[in-house]
Amino acid sequence: MPTIIKNMLIKLMRNAAGRYSQEARLSKAKSPADPLLMFTDWFALARKIDPERYNAMTLATAAPTAAPSARMVLLKDFDARGFVFFTNYASRKAQELSANPQAALVFWWKEIYRQVRIEGRIEKLDQATSDAYFHSRARGSQLGAWASRQSTVLTNRAELKGHLARYRDKFKGRDVPRPPFWGGFRLIPTTIDFWQGRQDRLHDRLRYSLEDSGEWHLERLSP
Ligand SMILES: Cc1cc2nc3c(=O)[nH]c(=O)nc-3n(C[C@H](O)[C@H](O)[C@H](O)COP(=O)(O)O)c2cc1C
Repeated sequence: MPTIIKNMLIKLMRNAAGRYSQEARLSKAKSPADPLLMFTDWFALARKIDPERYNAMTLATAAPTAAPSARMVLLKDFDARGFVFFTNYASRKAQELSANPQAALVFWWKEIYRQVRIEGRIEKLDQATSDAYFHSRARGSQLGAWASRQSTVLTNRAELKGHLARYRDKFKGRDVPRPPFWGGFRLIPTTIDFWQGRQDRLHDRLRYSLEDSGEWHLERLSP
């Protein structure tokens, strides 16, 4: 689709979303028993409005000292098992997650004035799932994953480009394998908090918490 038409469509969607968010409200009585249904719905609307970056989320982790750190990552998959993202297993976030496998995710979709906060336990994806995703990526991103020793200090940008050139040569004429130091994590949620902005800061907030029985408990929170 030509960029000019795509941008016009996105603008139309955003205007519609602006009107939508003025009127949107969360009803506890009408909310589904399973927060995944609500998330699926919100995510689909966010995707229509910002097809480029709707899946960007903040990932917060904490070191064993309890010092927190946060950064953006992309949500690449979700289902009843949890929320999946990919990264370098030697990165700062991955080191924090292996020492303390708990994390929080935050989505902020400004056009629809919505936030979603998800907290839970982290597990590493199995190798076959990481392989499948890695092989679905563009070759440039695959080589980039090999070239970047994420979170470590570079002397200069030329050093990074040097790593890239080496891997480009190494894998010339063949498929790029997944680096052993790169793959996915899944966050298995224990709470999901949906926030709908409303006028005068009287926002709506509904929080789902997972009970020992496996059922979700739903409460309205003060904004
Ligand atoms: C919009 C956006 C999306 C990003 N997506 C990812 C991602 O999916 N995986 C990743 O490892 N880094 C991603 N990054 C880079 C991270 O924010 C971060 O700089 C990097 O992962 C190193 O983080 P760490 O040193 O805390 O481990 C993204 C950055 C932005 C701004």
